[in-house]
Amino acid sequence: MNIQEIIAKKRDKRKLSKEEIDFFIEEYTKGTIADYQASALIMAIYLNGMEEEETTNLTLAMANSGDILDLSALGTVVDKHSTGGVGDKVTLILAPIIASLGVPVAKMSGRGLGYTGGTIDKLESIPRYQTNLPEEEFIANVKKIGISLIGQTRNLAPADKKIYALRDATSTTESIPLIASSIMSKKIAAGANKIVLDVTYGSGAFMKTKERAQELANTMMRIGKLAGRETVAVITPMEEPLGRNVGNSLEVVEAVEALKGNIAEDVKEVVLALGSNMLKLAGKGDNLEENKQKMLENIQNGKAYAKLKELVANQGGDVSYLEDTDKFKKAKYEMPVVFEEEDVRKREKIEYSNNRESINNIDMNSKENSVKAQENDMDIKQRTIKRLPAEEIGKLSVFLGAGRMKKEDEIEPEVGITFYKKVGDKVEKGDTLAVIHANNEEKGKEAVERLKKIYEIN
Ligand code: URA
Repeated sequence: MNIQEIIAKKRDKRKLSKEEIDFFIEEYTKGTIADYQASALIMAIYLNGMEEEETTNLTLAMANSGDILDLSALGTVVDKHSTGGVGDKVTLILAPIIASLGVPVAKMSGRGLGYTGGTIDKLESIPRYQTNLPEEEFIANVKKIGISLIGQTRNLAPADKKIYALRDATSTTESIPLIASSIMSKKIAAGANKIVLDVTYGSGAFMKTKERAQELANTMMRIGKLAGRETVAVITPMEEPLGRNVGNSLEVVEAVEALKGNIAEDVKEVVLALGSNMLKLAGKGDNLEENKQKMLENIQNGKAYAKLKELVANQGGDVSYLEDTDKFKKAKYEMPVVFEEEDVRKREKIEYSNNRESINNIDMNSKENSVKAQENDMDIKQRTIKRLPAEEIGKLSVFLGAGRMKKEDEIEPEVGITFYKKVGDKVEKGDTLAVIHANNEEKGKEAVERLKKIYEIN
């Protein structure tokens, strides 16, 4: 067997055998297959796809490329994973709720990469919180208090780590077999016997449409089944950022608020949808609505918030920051983004004349009349936020320093964006749409201008 033949086979749209997939993963992990050969194969998979059996074999080979955690001492462990988002602080809220209801949470989370955020970066904005624990301590924590959230250990699905970096560098990220095998290999290696997936779609997600998200969800659920891990997927929108904040410590503060009962509606919906399924998989009740009620009860009675504090204290973090969130370091500049009616007027005029130019550049009279009529319409004061595309917001937050484009990039925990107006909200001249939190004045000013353009208002 050699890698050239395997690449040629996939290039020619033929199915790879289990032996060929195992060979590729083993040899690439060892370093005997070069990056350029692996890139060629990955591109062939991206272009020509994989059958379900191939995707499952790829997943299992990647899961077996490193350590497989043994969590059997903890009984039924339900893991949760999101396919990525902007402003996604769900784990910080969901995990303590679920643990407070008696289901062990042993979760390894990732860091943000590209325009999507990562739970570990958020947790690390809590002073002294340890995300890097040996496996024995991780398991001992869960035994002791029912919850531990840590970063991925070094040797978990190392093949995925190498392939993910290649995909990032070769524009081969958005492929269902490659995403499904990447996520499921890590979930399988992380040892949970039940898995709930949050499969996102929309501007800020890998899958841009609900149909593609459903397809990805179906693929992952089938892999889960074949690998003996019961898997449920929930499809959730990621068209605009989730919740009220994007940025690491800002999102921690939002999560604390949520656990005290002040939870944004969109965040609440996702938390309840995922959590009710986690409880069901853990054998805590088949009725999803009743499960949601149990979760809400543990927010109201303070048990979920108490569990978050217990988690943070147990992993060395300074709980006083949760008790008084004003203690979190603030960004140097807080710059409001104010809605100026003129911005929309200018844009509308440009858009209007562009449209008219392309549709009809003959009837000048009617064009002039219509422009006048439109100017009169603009006296209407209230407008509506139509779009706030999550991908653009994610990129803006990276520009501010809240995320990283390369693994080595340092992040600034306190920078980000707070939203006061989101899609569907009415706005009037002078309203604050959002606040930019920046450590650099020039960057902050540029972010204000960029954000004004990102908001689609009409
Ligand atoms: N998250 C992953 O872990 N892998 C992917 O390929 C996409 C999202």
